[in-house]
Amino acid sequence: MAKSAPGTAGLPLLGDKSYEFYKNPVKFLMKRMADNKSRVFLTRFLNKPTVFVGSNKVVHELLNEHSDKLELGYKQFMEEIYGENILFTDGDFSTGLRDALSELFTVDAIKTYQSDIDRIVKNAIKDILTGAPVCIYMLFKKLAIEICLSLFLGLDFSQSDASLVTDLTVTHWHGIISVPVAVKIPMMNETTYSKALDAKRKLLEVINERRKEKCHQFPQHVERLPNFSDVLVNNHLLLFTSALIPKALSSILTSFMIEIGSEVGNQNMLLEDPDLLERYLLEVVRLYPPFLGGRRIIREEVICGGFRFPAGHALLYMTYAAHRDPDVFDQPDAFMPERWSQHNKNDQDKLFTLGAGPRQCIGEQLVWTIIKTVINELLRGYTVKLLPDQDLAYKWLPVSRPKGNVLVTFQGRNSNSLSRSLYPDTVDKPKGEYL
Ligand code: HEM
Repeated sequence: MAKSAPGTAGLPLLGDKSYEFYKNPVKFLMKRMADNKSRVFLTRFLNKPTVFVGSNKVVHELLNEHSDKLELGYKQFMEEIYGENILFTDGDFSTGLRDALSELFTVDAIKTYQSDIDRIVKNAIKDILTGAPVCIYMLFKKLAIEICLSLFLGLDFSQSDASLVTDLTVTHWHGIISVPVAVKIPMMNETTYSKALDAKRKLLEVINERRKEKCHQFPQHVERLPNFSDVLVNNHLLLFTSALIPKALSSILTSFMIEIGSEVGNQNMLLEDPDLLERYLLEVVRLYPPFLGGRRIIREEVICGGFRFPAGHALLYMTYAAHRDPDVFDQPDAFMPERWSQHNKNDQDKLFTLGAGPRQCIGEQLVWTIIKTVINELLRGYTVKLLPDQDLAYKWLPVSRPKGNVLVTFQGRNSNSLSRSLYPDTVDKPKGEYL
């Protein structure tokens, strides 16, 4: 018979553990899983009884087989900042939106974006600073923003208005991490939130202008999707150009460079062997998923993995913990790309970096295309060396990345590399510009 998840939801407000979670989410998870002797446990989060799920098997089953009984749990926090879009819909409406949007991200559609991605990446990478320390996260974040704003809005980064739009996406993003919810969470600030709403308004103006100019194809493709009202077109362009996606791309690229930056010898092999690169990437996103997890509201009772998930509760599927579940991954905390050609050869569906099941990320193919283009281009031009003795500790929220400015040096593979940088100020970048 199915049992309730161990743990307690405590009293409303008083029993809420959101603050503890936000302060150190990984410690919170590890401690609760150990105390409850279970990778599935109950607590109160965002003032709602919430089942946390860190068991790989249970996450897999919930997302793939019980998705029809779950609703996405983001509306409450993000709808005002983003406006109505697929992330805040469920049932037939979300299926319709997904079917339509997926057309924009098929393998064939992505082939049409490849030349733009190549051009932007080549242009940024040819000018990389060699021989001097570069903050790798900042470099990738800037590049990822340029890729997303160019692909989805056709912005030209040789023009100054592109950097104004970039600034707006940063201010807009700050609204997500300062969102006013019933339970006060760290980072919350109402002035920041109202600035974010103002940035949203301005971004929608930019999106409208770009649509009217008809000079770039992507917005027109979105306009032509069946049953997409004007508002839906705008809101989805806002979602795709928001800072969330570049931050996630930059997170993966940064984690990858940290893993390969200590052994320059491996970099040649990665360049020559796409399967090896694949295994490295799988291992990077296993250990360092950009998003710690995802949230659902349980619409109808679910029985899964021997547990009862009551209707009305929330659930958090914890990608971080599921990816380090020793039942699936031997030596779960070790970076072992070889596991993907041995023990875990057929376990790619046990990674939830891009979600899973009917609500899996629709940008998946595009994500890998961008990541691989950047890595291949970078390794073709340079060897990368991680500077020694750096603090590589991670922060996991809202998007994972090293806490500090991790520094690397690039060495040109041929003497034509310029000692000039597109990012001349990467080392001492003003803190205020961090997303
Ligand atoms: C490294 C970059 C990315 C990461 C890590 C990522 C991750 C995710 C995850 C984990 C989900 C599922 C959320 C859940 O289960 O609650 C998701 C959904 C989604 N992603 Fe991505 N994503 C990335 C890039 C993109 C890109 C490039 C696009 C499109 C331009 C995109 C569009 C979407 C959409 C529309 C959904 C919602 C799908 C639905 O609700 O049915 N993502 N993403």
